[in-house]
Amino acid sequence: MTSQDRPARYGHLDCNSPIAKWRFDRQVDDCAAFAPSSIVDIGCGWGELLQRITERVPGAKAVGIDSDLELLERGRAGAARRGIADRLEFVEYQGEDWTEPADLVICIGAAHAFGTSAQAVAALAPLVKPGGRLLFGDGIWQRTPTEAELAGMWPDTKADEWLLLPDLVDAAVATGLRPLRVESVEQHEWDDFESEFLMDKEVWLQANPGHERAEEVRAAADAHRAWWLRGHRGLLGFAYLTLGRQVAL
Ligand SMILES: C[S@@+](CC[C@H](N)C(=O)[O-])C[C@H]1O[C@@H](n2cnc3c(N)ncnc32)[C@H](O)[C@@H]1O
Repeated sequence: MTSQDRPARYGHLDCNSPIAKWRFDRQVDDCAAFAPSSIVDIGCGWGELLQRITERVPGAKAVGIDSDLELLERGRAGAARRGIADRLEFVEYQGEDWTEPADLVICIGAAHAFGTSAQAVAALAPLVKPGGRLLFGDGIWQRTPTEAELAGMWPDTKADEWLLLPDLVDAAVATGLRPLRVESVEQHEWDDFESEFLMDKEVWLQANPGHERAEEVRAAADAHRAWWLRGHRGLLGFAYLTLGRQVAL
């Protein structure tokens, strides 16, 4: 199958979550300065953040886990390119079943593997070693959406799927972790993310207007754009929480 047979998959995204380049770089800097010996990224995708942190912390042992084999392969290729494949392993695994603690636990955009945001932080907290950190990224509501607004988002979106930012932070604090940094993305970070997600399809459609799959690809792109621009835009935010566990007494 040639590359023209279907659109690329995540070909225009550096990582698979809404984040500005400066914010991503700062997360890499903060995590590298923390100098964890062990790192686990649950729902890592191709693990761009994980690769960048592992590269910056000599001796750190890292594992990225995901259920998507194609994304894991992209991660392995990246780790090999960076010369860190001996320290960074990409493993096919169900995130909710992972039990091995680490100094730095990362879970960004994969909370749904555990259920709601609150269930995710509760399940992830015990994986953080004493003195360790959790970098948790997930959707937040800017305000609670109405039923009519929910109906414009992607199918089966529910109001209790995400929390308001203060409630998410409270849910994290209730697990025994403390908030070291609370970030919430600007609208342009979501817009860039959705644009770059859709760019695979739009670029392919430009080059392949008469392809037998063009109609299907165009319909998928149009539906996704509607869920974004007529659906979650302005209602769904995204938060990154850097949470710390106290050292053992
Ligand atoms: C929105 S992406 C975020 C990827 C990555 N954390 C990032 O920020 O680039 C969510 C990822 O979670 C993975 N995922 C979903 N359910 C999972 C599960 N039960 N176990 C492991 N990974 C899962 C998906 O395959 C996908 O790669």
